[in-house]
Amino acid sequence: MEIIDRKKDHIEICLDKDVQFDKFSSGFDDYNFEHQGLPEIDIDEIDLSIELFGKKLSAPIFVSSMTGGLDQGEKINKNLAQACQNLGLAMGMGSQRITLEVPESLATFQVRDVAPDIFIFANVGAVQLNYGYGEKELNYLVDSINANALFLHLNPLQEAIQPEGDKNFKNLIEKITDLSKKLPFPIFIKETGCGISKQLAEKLNNTGIAGIDVSGGGGTSWSLIEAYRAKNPFQAKLGETFKNWGIPTSQSLINVNKISKDKIIFASGGIRSGIDVAKAITLGADAVGIAYPLLKPATISVEAVEEKLKQYIEELRISMFCLGLKSIPELKSNNFLKRI
Ligand SMILES: Cc1cc2nc3c(=O)[nH]c(=O)nc-3n(C[C@H](O)[C@H](O)[C@H](O)COP(=O)(O)O)c2cc1C
Repeated sequence: MEIIDRKKDHIEICLDKDVQFDKFSSGFDDYNFEHQGLPEIDIDEIDLSIELFGKKLSAPIFVSSMTGGLDQGEKINKNLAQACQNLGLAMGMGSQRITLEVPESLATFQVRDVAPDIFIFANVGAVQLNYGYGEKELNYLVDSINANALFLHLNPLQEAIQPEGDKNFKNLIEKITDLSKKLPFPIFIKETGCGISKQLAEKLNNTGIAGIDVSGGGGTSWSLIEAYRAKNPFQAKLGETFKNWGIPTSQSLINVNKISKDKIIFASGGIRSGIDVAKAITLGADAVGIAYPLLKPATISVEAVEEKLKQYIEELRISMFCLGLKSIPELKSNNFLKRI
């Protein structure tokens, strides 16, 4: 089936090729923390935990939405979910559209057997609201995997480049507003690696959504993934041309943080170390998402995913130690981050 083949292609390309932005980064390298040589705290008293809708996360980190719906997807999702359960982190599921088209694929998204306690975000493209999806379908996507919230992802660039893409993005703000009022779970809007602009953040302000994941540029380039998938030179050139299209994550985060005052804000897109996590939290994120760096480990084992996540957590802890900051609220309000 076309949708299954597409998902397989995406995973294989991400595992085999370098699909990251190559002209600019997420922008966190433009900032440095002013090291505090006498932090006056014990590293063991640092508390990295946050709360999300009543659920405690041991650190402000979640696995960003990736996959599901194919044989390999089940192993990937279970490994990611179990690692999150073991470490007390949250997880975003990959797009679940396939479960409505191929019902047998549902099991590949069901991870509650290995992750009974984690905060899970269900996921589907917002554009699907123009292709027959409404209240009933979104309720199903959340209930069928026992999720806590829903990510509606925005991916106009990817859909535009895909020959088979869904390209009618009209009137979605209105539909998102309507559904945010009706649905019983929190809705978050996320991009998929091109960032959220100031103008869009303003439009989203009155929709009733709970939050925004800026998912900015500088990490995984979906345009480049589609270039590798292209069946002809015309499509390949489109993907190649737009491979660096997007608002760098740090810039998108700063802008959204100024505008979306009453929203929960997540940052993802090119978060490649615990120092990036610390910088993102300082620039206004409540939590931070990581996708691509966890894909390969997730094809290997729970332990491989845990090792990667522990690396981020320890780097975050050391960053906070060297700044003398004991908690995430303290990290959020520190004055040590300087633009280089
Ligand atoms: C293999 C792969 C599959 C993805 N699938 C989805 C998806 O189904 N839904 C979605 O909202 N985002 C998806 N994304 C985007 C990520 O959630 C994230 O926003 C983006 O990759 C930026 O993070 P990164 O630079 O850490 O990869 C996917 C990313 C990767 C690498």
